[in-house]
Amino acid sequence: MPNIRYVSKNLFIEKLSVSNIGKKGGTPLYIYSENQIKENYIKFVNTFKKIKPLVCFAAKSNSNLSILRSLGKLGAGADVVSVGELLKALKAGIKANKIVFSGVGKTEEELKIAINKKILLINCESESEAKIINKIAKKSNKKVSIGFRLNPDIDAKTHKKISTGKANNKFGISIKNFYFFFKEIKKLKNIKLDALSVHIGSQILTDVPYKKVLTVLSKLIKNLDLNLKHIDLGGGFGINYSKKDKPINLKRYSNLVHSFSKKLNCKIIFEPGRSIVGNAGILVSKIQYIKNGANKKFVILDAGMNDFMRPALYDAQHDIIPVIKTTKKIKGIIEFVGPICESTCKFGKYKNYQKISENDFVAIANVGAYGASLSSNYNTRPLIPEILVNKNKFKFIRKKQNLLKLISA
Ligand code: LLP
Repeated sequence: MPNIRYVSKNLFIEKLSVSNIGKKGGTPLYIYSENQIKENYIKFVNTFKKIKPLVCFAAKSNSNLSILRSLGKLGAGADVVSVGELLKALKAGIKANKIVFSGVGKTEEELKIAINKKILLINCESESEAKIINKIAKKSNKKVSIGFRLNPDIDAKTHKKISTGKANNKFGISIKNFYFFFKEIKKLKNIKLDALSVHIGSQILTDVPYKKVLTVLSKLIKNLDLNLKHIDLGGGFGINYSKKDKPINLKRYSNLVHSFSKKLNCKIIFEPGRSIVGNAGILVSKIQYIKNGANKKFVILDAGMNDFMRPALYDAQHDIIPVIKTTKKIKGIIEFVGPICESTCKFGKYKNYQKISENDFVAIANVGAYGASLSSNYNTRPLIPEILVNKNKFKFIRKKQNLLKLISA
């Protein structure tokens, strides 16, 4: 049974009515199903079980401490991109030897901390970064194991703003430069190349680009006769935001990775984010006002683009569903918008939507990934609460940010 579903006319998350949580918790608020997150993680691990990968959850997709803790308990590692995420992952009980650190602009301070904490892997994204790691390691007489992130120049066939593996994207190092720099790495005595990593983009719905990545990697490893401990294949697995999206065939991909890794005798790492938490969260919002525009009705929510950025940032479409269903309809077009003073603060348009009124709740669906973690204080609005539901219990896993603190600077 899905964890977020209607029971008769009422939207439920696990065993709790969303309407009741909304009334108690105050809107807008994020609500997550802990069991959905766990199921997603376990399903992912099972899909790849022949490979026995290390699954490093991409903390940027949802960095709430309780969620990291819950995944950590199931055995997940973490993929982090800042010292903040690194310290949070450790605080959540994820062991350093399960943490990988990606990012094009890691500072010397961040690298020092990562080295001191002895994390599994720093995925270098430039020659200069490798040299800095070498310098830090030399000072403390260490040999640090690093990975190199490659930019394979492969089109992930996703939204252009979340594509990361094309030559014109800032991420990683091109294959050509890697061939050249490989000789230089050998001269850096305090680092050891133990891994290669790739991450070509997010919300990818076909295994075709992943297959191309494996071909590029195989060729490179063979040509340079690399002996690696890990290959980090990144994340990017898409979810179904709408009924039109066809799910990615992860089983087929897992078979490809299996035959790829068999020959290499190294540990495979994945960094999924969205596919673990995306469908586990909803954003519950109250209808503040409904007003007539010239050619449509504006349904003004109490949630704004600062609370949930994806529609404004990527024109992302998320279903907006009523918390209590009715068969009555409103005629014509309505547009759900938020209160922020920007025209892009809008969430979606509908024709012949069900009848809704001011003060009703609606839920924006599939916001567990890149929802709360992308939110901001724009328009001096406090960060909103997050609630985690487990069966018939719920708890605040982030309280609403204190307004007095917010206005102190
Ligand atoms: N590994 C690296 C190095 C990444 O940069 C990312 C995401 C991931 C793993 C996880 O990717 P996932 O499995 O979640 O697709 N804010 C955008 C998505 C940006 C993704 C950035 N990198 C959105 O809301 O669609």
